[in-house]
Amino acid sequence: MCGIIGYVGKNCDIGQILIEGLKRLEYRGYDSSGIAIVQDGQLVWEKTSGKIAKLEKRLRGIDLAGSLGIAHTRWATHGEPNRVNAHPHFDSAQRLALVHNGIIENYLTLKKSLEAEGHTFITETDTEVLVHLIDRFYKGNALEDAVQQALKMVEGTYGILVISAEEPGKIIGARNGSPVVVGIGEGEYFIASDVAAILKHTRQVIYLEDHQMIVATPDNFTTVTIENEYVEHIVQEVDWDLEMIEKGGFRHFMLKEIHEQPETIRNAMRGRLIHDTGDAKLGGLAMAEKELRDVRRIVLLGCGTSWHAALIGKYMIEDKSRIPVEVEYASEFRYRNPVIENGTICFAISQSGETVDTLAAMREAGKRGAKCMGIVNVVGSTIARESHCGVYIHAGPEIGVASTKAFTSQITVLGLLALLQGRMRNISSAEGQRIIEAMEKLPDQVAEILRTNDEIKGIAEKYAHHNNFLYLGRGANYPVALEGALKLKEISYLHAEGYPAAEMKHGPIALIDENMPVVFICPKDNAYKKILGNISEVKARKGKIIAITNEGNNEVVEMADHVIYIPRNLDFLYPVLAVIPLQLIAYHIAVLRGCNVDQPRNLAKSVTVE
Ligand code: G6P
Repeated sequence: MCGIIGYVGKNCDIGQILIEGLKRLEYRGYDSSGIAIVQDGQLVWEKTSGKIAKLEKRLRGIDLAGSLGIAHTRWATHGEPNRVNAHPHFDSAQRLALVHNGIIENYLTLKKSLEAEGHTFITETDTEVLVHLIDRFYKGNALEDAVQQALKMVEGTYGILVISAEEPGKIIGARNGSPVVVGIGEGEYFIASDVAAILKHTRQVIYLEDHQMIVATPDNFTTVTIENEYVEHIVQEVDWDLEMIEKGGFRHFMLKEIHEQPETIRNAMRGRLIHDTGDAKLGGLAMAEKELRDVRRIVLLGCGTSWHAALIGKYMIEDKSRIPVEVEYASEFRYRNPVIENGTICFAISQSGETVDTLAAMREAGKRGAKCMGIVNVVGSTIARESHCGVYIHAGPEIGVASTKAFTSQITVLGLLALLQGRMRNISSAEGQRIIEAMEKLPDQVAEILRTNDEIKGIAEKYAHHNNFLYLGRGANYPVALEGALKLKEISYLHAEGYPAAEMKHGPIALIDENMPVVFICPKDNAYKKILGNISEVKARKGKIIAITNEGNNEVVEMADHVIYIPRNLDFLYPVLAVIPLQLIAYHIAVLRGCNVDQPRNLAKSVTVE
């Protein structure tokens, strides 16, 4: 959730490096932030509630030159998001500073024993306990030694950075469950939660594994375990560039990412379609070919938007391959007693690859004998590394907190998986070729829908003042309705519900009157005739109807107050197209209501706490 960044190296304007890094990490949490650097053997620090811009303002005019420092942007778990609880946290003598992403689960027990020894705490956070614990072990020995001793006593998750005013040329980073990436410069090191924060300075990175730490000075670094065993590290080259993490002329990251979808969908399919045989090739799954052939059941795990993608994947895979697919919220799966029989494979679907519930659910499935694969965007993320194998969706960095391009790439990859599984079973080569042809139309069709942005904005203007919305769809478009409602909730703070259209009459129909906008996802698929009946039911109760359908559906045009057209394609691919107008509706309503589109309140992009 939170974002951390640290620097050790040359004497420079370290304040700027850290603030710029924090801005790139702000999507991870944005309720408070802080910075600490070492100057003349002393810690100089500042922190504040609110956004990074507020911290930047407070730092104006302060000399932030130095060669060692850490900074943090917070998404509160323990303790209100105020200035006191903001990171960094310090020991009583203020010789140590620490930033933390994660949760120390046994902090109350540790706190009691530290209090009994005379430590006093000034914050409500779990993190402050950790810095005091390090202080307890820091008695003339090296900082890394004290950090190791402290971490051995800690239960929970952490990505931490620690500095000491007494060792002004050294930074320690450690991880367990929360990501830590080390950027290698020339005579300088950047350590952060995410490569986006350090990409401006270097592309050479090392991803720390759980229970590992890095000890870096300007001249050197070592990676060791918490038990102080030396660890061989692998330096990797990041293939993102700076442009990919900038807004590129768009007002918001979300709008940019919505508009990137023709390209990202193309990237998700690139090199994976075999025209001659009508097959899909997912190189990352090659090592699991036997399991894929023998599979008897598939379990798809995810959270939030990724869970919606999984639901669509169920429709796609069952339809094309006839393999039963179970979709489960990762947070539920991990705490019940799930049945994993022989022949079950599991896919963890996650944009970030760091969502703690999805990761834990995947581990649980693995423990119970399932082969676990990832469908992930962020290269080198924990799910990508811990899964037996997997498929990258190649959507590029997604910065807007509300997921858009990752969603369409996830369902594109699930479509490829459906084709792959289908071809191993009951789909002919000719049918496979027909699917490939249809999939290849998607990028241009998405671009066509994006060209109706102004009309969609016009519809958003009419409804931006409403407080409740209903989204209805059938079949694979029912999860699209869920996703449309989620987008609106996330960024506009409006109440919106997604429902299977036919279920409306078992409850939500009671809500319908002339003030209720109802968004129908009703392309001309095999459920089309049925959904017409549901549209009539809303119409009869004077609900306002916004329909997403194909050109030429005159029955819908006559009944609806507004129609948004999407191009024709195969039924099972409509979700990729139908969600685009819903993303745009949510975006424009949020902008019209003055909401912070890229950083909606209370949310974070990557949820690394339970
Ligand atoms: C958070 C984000 C959502 C995202 C969900 C799952 O709630 O705000 O946009 O869908 O996490 O994230 P993941 O990275 O696992 O796809």
